[in-house]
Amino acid sequence: MGQHGKLAIFGGEQVIPPGTIKPWPPINEVDEKYVLESLRGTNHAFGPNCVAFEKEFAAWNGNQYAITTNSGTAALHMCVAACDCSEGDEVIVTAYSWSSSATCILHHNCIPVFVDIDFDTMNIDVNKIEAAITPKTKAIIVVHLHGLAVDMDKVMAVAQKHGIKVIEDACQAHGAKYKGKKVGTLGHCAAFSFNQNKNLASGEGGMFVTDDEEIMKKARTLWSFGETRTPSESRDYHVYALGWMYRNNDLTAAFGRAQLTRLDMYLDWQRNSAELLTQQLHSVPHLILPTTPDQHEPNWYNYVLRLDMAALGHEADASQFRNKVVRALKAEGVETMVWQSFILPQMTVFQAKNAYGYGSPWTSPHAQPVDYSPEQYPVAQRHCDTHTCLVSSLRYPNGADTIELMGEAISKVMENVDQLEDLAV
Ligand SMILES: Cc1ncc(COP(=O)(O)O)c(C=O)c1O
Repeated sequence: MGQHGKLAIFGGEQVIPPGTIKPWPPINEVDEKYVLESLRGTNHAFGPNCVAFEKEFAAWNGNQYAITTNSGTAALHMCVAACDCSEGDEVIVTAYSWSSSATCILHHNCIPVFVDIDFDTMNIDVNKIEAAITPKTKAIIVVHLHGLAVDMDKVMAVAQKHGIKVIEDACQAHGAKYKGKKVGTLGHCAAFSFNQNKNLASGEGGMFVTDDEEIMKKARTLWSFGETRTPSESRDYHVYALGWMYRNNDLTAAFGRAQLTRLDMYLDWQRNSAELLTQQLHSVPHLILPTTPDQHEPNWYNYVLRLDMAALGHEADASQFRNKVVRALKAEGVETMVWQSFILPQMTVFQAKNAYGYGSPWTSPHAQPVDYSPEQYPVAQRHCDTHTCLVSSLRYPNGADTIELMGEAISKVMENVDQLEDLAV
């Protein structure tokens, strides 16, 4: 038995007492002030806080234009539409992400084409993008997953060579930098999410950003019923193209504005926590710790651990053994989760080609056949089966004492991992 003794999952003492890890997002009197002022105002739809939030977020991120939305997914759909993707066109996307990084392509009757990931960065393998380009390809969606930017120079070079657009899914990556520049300023347009778990959280919500006026106008048409003017301008109530109702509301925007005043502090805090945790975990056996390539500054949205299944002797039953480790970590009080249990192409919507009925959009006369056999994405599958994420424990106001306990609990489980061999699945 290892130095820490009996695992909590078998009745040993829990390392992290309940209530230690503070929930996200932290709320203070600034949030109360902004939200109450909005509530006491007279416009609760697309009101003054929405207009101010767009300006403040665009200034914070360094974008020319920002449009606030009711979700990150809405902003992603706006990106697809704004990049002139039409029925049957193909859009390249990573094989491992949140579902809507790919379903936003279906929302516009377009066809997702998946590319495997790079194991170290967990992002799309930029060296495999070019092989996936066909005459139908209109755009590439890069996802800065877990807050680590994609190697954008390579992506932009391929996109420029083939005359296609680049959409950044920055939903998890507020403030992450690549070569000193913030994500959301690197491609043609980008989407951010302000959902509960995000580094900038307003319950739900999102932001579309771009520096291109034409792209902004196309996105705005989709955003508000197909109209071309915002609710704060004089509307002509004319529908110029097919539109949705993706606008944000004043209360949510007020909450987002309040959180934005503390975002830089939150991000510094997380970077510091991630550094401390890496030091703590450095010599823990059988863990693959996150890597940060040169000239990348992650925001550490999730701190992702992978288990070295070859060393553990569990390559054949990787996800089952990972699940046992996750249960043991949780029993010690570690706040951890398997972020995705399926790679994207394996999800039923793609396997069954089940979107709009009658096989649409894959059966469109404008589309060409695509193959979603999961075997094409072995790296994404390996990552998917071996990972677990640490989330709020690295975030403000959880401090060095919490990180130390996290390190202790993770070491305890990994040093005694052989105890899990006989644990029922
Ligand atoms: C990578 C990624 N893309 C898109 C989204 C969608 O954002 P929302 O939930 O705001 O629609 C998320 C949200 O979890 C995400 O993590």
